[in-house]
Amino acid sequence: MEGQMTHFSEPTVQNYAGWDEFYAKDVDEKIDFFSKENRLFDIIFSQQFDRNFLDYICRLSNSIRLLAKTKSGSRKLRRLLAHKRAMLYFVQPSTRTFLSFLNACHILGLKVSDIRDTSTSSEIKGESQEDSIRTFASYVDLIIIRHLEAGFSEKTAWVLNQSERPVPVINGGSGPDQHPTQALLDIYTLERSFAHIGGLDGKKIAMVGDLKRGRTVRSLSYLMKNYKDVTLYLVSPEIFKIKEDIKTFLNKHEIQFIETDDFRQTLPLVDAIYMTRIQKEYAEDATAEADDYPEFFFKQEHLTEIQPHCVIMHPLPRRYEIEVEVDKDPRAVYWRQERNGMWMRTALIAYIFGVEKKIFKVLTA
Ligand code: NCD
Repeated sequence: MEGQMTHFSEPTVQNYAGWDEFYAKDVDEKIDFFSKENRLFDIIFSQQFDRNFLDYICRLSNSIRLLAKTKSGSRKLRRLLAHKRAMLYFVQPSTRTFLSFLNACHILGLKVSDIRDTSTSSEIKGESQEDSIRTFASYVDLIIIRHLEAGFSEKTAWVLNQSERPVPVINGGSGPDQHPTQALLDIYTLERSFAHIGGLDGKKIAMVGDLKRGRTVRSLSYLMKNYKDVTLYLVSPEIFKIKEDIKTFLNKHEIQFIETDDFRQTLPLVDAIYMTRIQKEYAEDATAEADDYPEFFFKQEHLTEIQPHCVIMHPLPRRYEIEVEVDKDPRAVYWRQERNGMWMRTALIAYIFGVEKKIFKVLTA
């Protein structure tokens, strides 16, 4: 062991009978397993959200945002879940998702503990990740996970749901697969941005960049089935085209999409531009995937080419995809989008613990 802390023992690999069969199933067949009494219990995939839920959670986010602005409102929010504890298990780098969940918990009064590095937990002694998670479940009422492996949050929820102490699990990013809470805040941002022009229904949205490995784009694409007449422009270099599974989904749900590598031509056509970063951490061939693709960057000069109501979004972190000069334009909404994440995640946690009626009541009182 030179300098860097490594495992004392190889991680233990447990065999969970039935998991492989479960994991291989279609998402649609698995959704019920993550619900209880007609409510979502674990938040694992964005296919779990229907239009009713999306409208409801956007409305709840709005109420929370308004309440949190006042001293008495924020005090009321803080009392709602002061008896609950949450665990943030974030073993893949994160700034926004981590901080917005942490602050969402604070807004509702939950106490929070976190692990951000497996070298500080018993996993370094060889404990399996699933056993570590069961341990967290012994102490807390909610577990929020960001993990490099695509199915890790799902497996955790699957294991816990069969234990004597099932606690809800939220997927805060599962490798290159999904990021359902980011998709929720993206929807909230789109709906807020288009509130004066009929909401998201009927809009044209460009998604730009690494559509192959960007989990935010994947999760957001799934949600489009809930909106009427949305058209997606999937703008990427050839090697980062969106994967077949998403295209199959879009076709199945009759969501119009156009694949193109012409960023410039797309700009004037759309109501929203969702920029993304090249996900170099998932490179299979680092040399072939080293380019930055400046022809897909949003530059200051492009501001004159987009429609007056068009919003520019980005899940962040940004690298060079959007010039900083663009930030000053009122159509650049990514910093608001980031803050929307905190309100949306607060709403989601309030929903999971079933206290949202109290929030609506306080607001109308
Ligand atoms: C994204 C992520 O981690 O998937 N960021 C985020 O959660 N806001 C996007 C990215 O890393 O590019």
